[in-house]
Amino acid sequence: MSIHRPTRIVVVGCGAVGATTAYTLLLRERCEELVLIDVRRDVAHGEALDFRHGLPFTGKTKVWAGDYADCAGADIVIVAAGAAQRPGETRQDLLPRNAAVVQQVVAQVVEHNQDGILLIATNPVDVMAYAAWKTSQWPAHRVIGSGTVLDSARFRFAIGRRLGMDPRNVHAYIVGEHGDTELPVWSSAHVAGAPVSLPPEEKDEIFRETRDAAYEIIRAKGATNYAIALALDRIVTAILRDEGAVLTVSTYLDDYLGVRGIYMGVPCIVDRTGVREVLPLHLDETEARLFAASAAALQAAVARLP
Ligand code: 2OP
Repeated sequence: MSIHRPTRIVVVGCGAVGATTAYTLLLRERCEELVLIDVRRDVAHGEALDFRHGLPFTGKTKVWAGDYADCAGADIVIVAAGAAQRPGETRQDLLPRNAAVVQQVVAQVVEHNQDGILLIATNPVDVMAYAAWKTSQWPAHRVIGSGTVLDSARFRFAIGRRLGMDPRNVHAYIVGEHGDTELPVWSSAHVAGAPVSLPPEEKDEIFRETRDAAYEIIRAKGATNYAIALALDRIVTAILRDEGAVLTVSTYLDDYLGVRGIYMGVPCIVDRTGVREVLPLHLDETEARLFAASAAALQAAVARLP
């Protein structure tokens, strides 16, 4: 008789992103066991207790504040620990502060787990995913950054609003760095197979709105949390349900459109194995130039890792 092993997700870091992600996973009943870890143990304890009191209204997820030993047997460990941007800061400004945090977290995770999937959300996410991969020494397909999944969602929302159409029917990607050098792939953006036909000024406006969305939200309320939580939930679901979903997660690129040895957001097939495949990306001349520039910025950022 085979014994059922409960699906376990661990969330490391109970700040705005970690806590909202955990709450989203709980509401959507994505796992049977949900573990919260934070250096501020009282915060993890408080969040877990608050979640538990909601269980009579949700499902029967087991949720508790744990420690790294609870990573044993976890299907996915989400890393959302570290400092968040303050108004006026870029994601790259967080690199020196967050690199040490991510390296320490991942070193402790892999002491207890060798075959799960690491999903990195800490910013600057492409560089942090790279650092996590290096520290873990896991195969790159099992170390994934949230990449431009959120940016692609913001982009689809903005296009859908402009066209008066459901964003779920808009197929369009933001690729590259999750940050200031990201780029829109207008050349393949479509609705029902037809290219998105908007005047160039409107396209520029949509892209600026997408790229700078986090700055606007952080100025207004101090942090972004809901949409990133849903983006992480989307990635988690693609993994747990073995979906083969196409998502612009941040993945290790080696010899991809001239890019070598960094993590960056590109369309990938995501399933139970993590990133099963990196899809080819067709870019026009301008997009290819911007893609190379984004990669160069990330190369420089990776070189700043301690
Ligand atoms: C976001 O894009 C700040 O990276 C975070 O919402």
